[in-house]
Amino acid sequence: MNIDWSNLSFGYIKTDYNVRCYYKDGKWSALEISDSEYLTMHMAATVLHYSQEAFEGLKAFRGKDGKIRIFRIDENAKRMQASCDGLLMPQLPISLFEEAVLRAVKLNERFVPPYESGSSLYIRPVLFGTSAQVGVKAATEYMFIIFVTPVGPYFKGGFQTTPFCILREYDRAAPLGTGIYKVGGNYAASLVANKRAHDLGYSNVFYLDPKEKKYIDECGAANFFGIKDNTYITPESSSILPSITNKSLMQLAESIGMKVERRGVPLEELSTFEEAGACGTAAVISPINRIDDLDTNVSYVFSKDGKPGKVCEKLYNKLRAIQYGDEADTFGWVTVVE
Ligand SMILES: Cc1ncc(COP(=O)(O)O)c(C=O)c1O
Repeated sequence: MNIDWSNLSFGYIKTDYNVRCYYKDGKWSALEISDSEYLTMHMAATVLHYSQEAFEGLKAFRGKDGKIRIFRIDENAKRMQASCDGLLMPQLPISLFEEAVLRAVKLNERFVPPYESGSSLYIRPVLFGTSAQVGVKAATEYMFIIFVTPVGPYFKGGFQTTPFCILREYDRAAPLGTGIYKVGGNYAASLVANKRAHDLGYSNVFYLDPKEKKYIDECGAANFFGIKDNTYITPESSSILPSITNKSLMQLAESIGMKVERRGVPLEELSTFEEAGACGTAAVISPINRIDDLDTNVSYVFSKDGKPGKVCEKLYNKLRAIQYGDEADTFGWVTVVE
């Protein structure tokens, strides 16, 4: 195997196996192991026409001690259940989700990158409607798959800030729509805005609440947080995904003596933050250098020298240390693969 572990992108590399199971006649089958990257499906499957699909994203890390640790499997299992409820799909039992994650990682153990590379193994569970249906109705049959693929460190040149932009003509989700679920349709709906932002030199779109455009929602595929007066502030909204990284950072912030506020965050408050960041599984924290409001020409600047703030750096290092096993897992977030 000839993989340059330190220079992997967030792409797709074939691994040895994936695991699968099926929902039919009201119950989930046992897990199957497959070495095929393909699947056959009916052309009228509800996933293809009506996006009846939910997915998850989590990671496995190899520690200095050689052990593999997986971060917060149970939280991802619960969030997938919530997404299933949101799209009228049968919930996958949490124990089956956990078993599938562990099997998929173990079967592909040789693809878990070495500690020194700063890379990790990305785990992608996906659940979707497979039975034929032309009317807009839920499927009667479903498939659940987990595949894994090694991914590189998010920050190749070290922990860095990037600029974000506000584009009011796009929403990623409706106020009472599916923004709180991890479902494919939200991501298809974000592609045009994302491309616009990239073409303009920004790393991501910074979304305002879709109803009034007065409050902060989230940043691309990550939650937002701002830091001021020793307080970690993050938006509460009916159209953002409940990020597991954000939930963890809130607990970490409290553990180091910070206050935590989860509430509506008005756009104007951006000018009062000492630091700001986007958080998610991909980067843990992606510190924000500035946010340009392209409709009003106002720029909110969080880093004058382009470097990440001290609190962002501290939280980032702490969470990564738990994930890689460098620091004790006092919160019980990590599953060690035996
Ligand atoms: C829209 C969106 N928001 C936030 C997040 C962050 O969630 P998590 O920390 O669970 O990865 C993600 C996924 O990474 C996402 O797709």
